[in-house]
Amino acid sequence: MSVVICDQDEQQCKQTPGSLSLPVLQRIGDVTLGGLFPLHETVVEPHRSFTTLPSNLHCTSFSLRIFRMAQSMIFAIEEINREGKLLPNVTLGYKIYDSCSTPYQALKAAMELMGTEQDSEVEMVDNHMCPGTVPVVIGDAGSTQSLVVARFLGAFHVPQVSYFSSCACLSNKKEYPAFLRTMPSDLFQVDALVQLVKHFQWTWVGVIAGDDVYGRSGAAVFANEVKKFGACVALQEIIPKNHAREALAAIVSRIRSSGALVVLVFAVEQDAGALFDEALRQGLTGIQWLASEAWSTAPVLSTPPKYHQILQGTIGLAVRGVYIPGLQDFLLRLHPSNPDASENPFLIPFWEKVFGCRLGANSGNQIENDKPLCSGSEDLRSMKNIYSDFSKLRISYNVYKAVYAIAHAIKSMMSCKKDAGPFPLKACPDTTNIQPWQLLHYLKEVDYINQFGEETKFDHNGDPVAIYDLLNWQLGFDGEQIVTIGMFDGTATADQKKLKLQEENIIWNGNKTTVPESVCSSPCLQGTRKAIRPNFPICCHDCVVCRAGEISNQTNSIECVLCLPQFWSNVERTACFPKEVDFLSFSDTMGITLITIALLGSLCTCWVIFIFSCHISSPIVRANNSELSFLLLFSLTLCFLCSLTFIGRPSDWSCMLRQTAFGITFVLCISCVLGKTIVVLMAFRATLPGSNLMKWFGPVQQRAFITLSTLVQVIICIIWLTVAPPTPQKLMPRESAIVILLCDEGSALGFALVLGYIGLLACLCLFLAFLARKLPDNFNEAKYITFSMLIFCAVWVAFIPAYISSPGKYAVAVEIFAILASSYGLLACIFAPKCYIILLKPEKNSRKHLMSKTSVQ
Ligand code: TRP
Repeated sequence: MSVVICDQDEQQCKQTPGSLSLPVLQRIGDVTLGGLFPLHETVVEPHRSFTTLPSNLHCTSFSLRIFRMAQSMIFAIEEINREGKLLPNVTLGYKIYDSCSTPYQALKAAMELMGTEQDSEVEMVDNHMCPGTVPVVIGDAGSTQSLVVARFLGAFHVPQVSYFSSCACLSNKKEYPAFLRTMPSDLFQVDALVQLVKHFQWTWVGVIAGDDVYGRSGAAVFANEVKKFGACVALQEIIPKNHAREALAAIVSRIRSSGALVVLVFAVEQDAGALFDEALRQGLTGIQWLASEAWSTAPVLSTPPKYHQILQGTIGLAVRGVYIPGLQDFLLRLHPSNPDASENPFLIPFWEKVFGCRLGANSGNQIENDKPLCSGSEDLRSMKNIYSDFSKLRISYNVYKAVYAIAHAIKSMMSCKKDAGPFPLKACPDTTNIQPWQLLHYLKEVDYINQFGEETKFDHNGDPVAIYDLLNWQLGFDGEQIVTIGMFDGTATADQKKLKLQEENIIWNGNKTTVPESVCSSPCLQGTRKAIRPNFPICCHDCVVCRAGEISNQTNSIECVLCLPQFWSNVERTACFPKEVDFLSFSDTMGITLITIALLGSLCTCWVIFIFSCHISSPIVRANNSELSFLLLFSLTLCFLCSLTFIGRPSDWSCMLRQTAFGITFVLCISCVLGKTIVVLMAFRATLPGSNLMKWFGPVQQRAFITLSTLVQVIICIIWLTVAPPTPQKLMPRESAIVILLCDEGSALGFALVLGYIGLLACLCLFLAFLARKLPDNFNEAKYITFSMLIFCAVWVAFIPAYISSPGKYAVAVEIFAILASSYGLLACIFAPKCYIILLKPEKNSRKHLMSKTSVQ
């Protein structure tokens, strides 16, 4: 046995010894079309020892679906022959081989189509073709097989029209120059799937591919495209062709652990079936499956109820289908007892598969020999299976279109006008002996509208127009029902909508009507922002709550926005609201405490004034310069009261009043003390013989001194207020939820001068009092003044750092505290001993006592 390989140029055919011829379903016509159909789904690999002739492959699992496609080819050919309108003087024939779903067998069949042993015995005619070869081949189904065949046929420019191979790789005309198809390229299918994913906003999808060019390239293109619009591929797995349990189990558990709820299976029926068997075994439910066109209409998966719980709701793509009138009758007419049945080597396996019986003793299949013998009364019409469902034929229609396209090409070949042909020297083809390369030329030009109103033509890549139906697997009364829920038009321009969906008709996995969600991380709500999760795809993120002072008012924000300075974020971080205003108010605890202390201080002072005025004539009051004492007490009352101006909402007036009132009352106060100290010093000197110092610092001078020194402060204050008065100020630190209201000093120099002047007087006073502290007098006021000035200075020295480092209203509190503390210090040190004597030790309140202990004279 041998196969003839023909070399076009050398025009000779050689026989390759050692090949076995394959079963063929044929009828020779004027023009015979080759057909390749994977009528069996699997093969049992023969043992290859390389010492004996390899036996023919043993093909198993007869496919009714593919058989229907093969029958459609015959139907179309017979229809053309019968009607005679398209090709009146030509009868078409066919030669159909089973490629058994393996590239090896497909190639072998293709080789046989190029010439067989018996054909080679026919005398060779003087032309380019080897005898018995076909000028065109329809097939194969799977891309893997078609690729191998296309490489082989392409070398000889034999046109090949596939009805089911969709791999985008086959569009490459450099590698496959003679390849055409009525099946759209997967580029369009992927585009449709990507649009679907985009439309339903799934960003976390799994992709499972079959281990063949179809699955691998489809999945790769899909994964690529999906990433382009920001979605992520949760997992990408390959179903091994041997359907190994462990590998499938690993894939299923990976689907489960990935968290993807939408998974695309880009594989052929058998591979997808193996995956779903394992999914069933592991009880993997709740996945919304997306089906590629190879299994979206697979009855094997949709009819048996066992897959319902996992596959219900599946959404898939399918090429457009039509009802081909007459095909049903043609297909049901088959019967093993028909006269032409013996010519059909595939009828026996078909019949045995449909009826589950055995035709004759040696059905050839040992495994199936335990089946009962067929009775002969079997009738195809009584059976309800995939072979009897003709409502919408899709791939069979592709086969039908392929036959018609070839017929149209032959027709235009025949209508070539003499001397206006497309070939060199304007030659027309010889239609009595059709050359493949000439037919290829005409095939590429084909453009016609068929009886279903559909235009058939091939683009420059040999691809047809891509229009898909979108299908949804719904649970009907009798098993799964495949419902059309929309369509995808690959010809639509960018601004037209390619994807048209009737969303309301979709029933999702789990019998739901709500669109399933498939996202890696749920969207970040308002008030939070996305944060990338290291080592994860971009679709996976964490949601981080915005920081205080920041908000996000949209879901899925990438960043939180800062509120304006005078605004702060709410607890939910969804909106900004005006910041709370904070100042030392009359109503807060600190305010109330300070007011109480201040009022208490001024009450005490008033009380002292009262005691003094009651004992105005007593020696101790008179001895200590009662006028200055009263003035001092009065100014102390003012000091206590001036602290109140620091409390409350800062306004233009209060800001100006605060520092100036404080500055002036304090200067008045210290001046009085200073006056007293000077008086003590003078008084002592005055007691010394011959000195008349007292007249230099009598009451008039004292008054003048006090007025003058206070006037200096008044002038400083007036200048300060006119040049750069203190004004209310709002402090709005970014990181604080409050607006701090305070008085801005206006001029730091002004403030420093006011304080400095007080300090100067205080230091002078301290110095003089220090000098006078040891003067002999029974009631020497100087030591009390020294003491009070020490306290005063200590308080104000401590005040400076505390004031600078305290924030906002606390600085104000510190100042009030310093005012109160120093006022209390003065009050206590200077007046407490006197009050003690007046009230509790009246015996000491005598002129005698005051004068008695004069130690130094
Ligand atoms: N569209 C698929 C392809 O191009 C169809 C397919 C793949 C197929 N393998 C198959 C169809 C096997 C039938 C049998 O490959």
